[in-house]
Amino acid sequence: MNGEIQQYIEQLIPKRSELFSRIESYAEENDVPIMESAGIEALLQILRIQQPKRILEVGTAIGYSALRMADAIPHTKVVTIERDEERYTKAEENFQLANKTDNIHLIKGDALEVEDQVKKLAPYDAIFIDAAKGQYKRFFEMYSNYLSDDGIIITDNVLFKGLVCEPNIENKRIRSLVKKINEFNEWLMSHPDYHTVILPVGDGVAISKKR
Ligand SMILES: C[S@@+](CC[C@H](N)C(=O)[O-])C[C@H]1O[C@@H](n2cnc3c(N)ncnc32)[C@H](O)[C@@H]1O
Repeated sequence: MNGEIQQYIEQLIPKRSELFSRIESYAEENDVPIMESAGIEALLQILRIQQPKRILEVGTAIGYSALRMADAIPHTKVVTIERDEERYTKAEENFQLANKTDNIHLIKGDALEVEDQVKKLAPYDAIFIDAAKGQYKRFFEMYSNYLSDDGIIITDNVLFKGLVCEPNIENKRIRSLVKKINEFNEWLMSHPDYHTVILPVGDGVAISKKR
């Protein structure tokens, strides 16, 4: 999206609570990627409308989005997966600080290897995918099996800073990642079992609803 419009929207978003602001600062200072502010507001608004009883998040980082979801929908249970030891520990600490350990179930491990734990807590009314971008299709295929019939799947970073429509990317690693995201987007948009819309908000958010 046009950078000026993005900035305009962002400066209109009200200030977050002290704990959320502290986590945002920690993320910035320590290079922890957390969802962009306009993107998370869009995600939370969709969840407020949907009122999911249970949410699965793939990619906790330090717990920012899990806490924002648990705060926005107080009756919901968030199950969230993180493989990085340090971020997992920080997320645990943040959930304790926020007094949300009853609402958030944190799973340590690679999302592609903890299916059994995730399955035990299924079904999920909403699934939020925000982990390794090259694996989005695998996360979607694996965990869509545990989505309730009227569930939704929200995927972040599908526009990857606008690089998805950049024809000449010099960096080989980024070029290969962009190729994977483009393939995922095409696969998702023509998926026979889901209606999907891509919102050009934050880093690009795809909302998929079972047909
Ligand atoms: C963009 S961050 C998540 C941000 C978080 N959702 C938020 O907005 O606060 C992505 C996280 O996913 C984790 N991750 C990446 N691939 C993963 C995988 N296969 N299994 C579990 N965690 C993974 C990374 O370690 C990283 O902390």
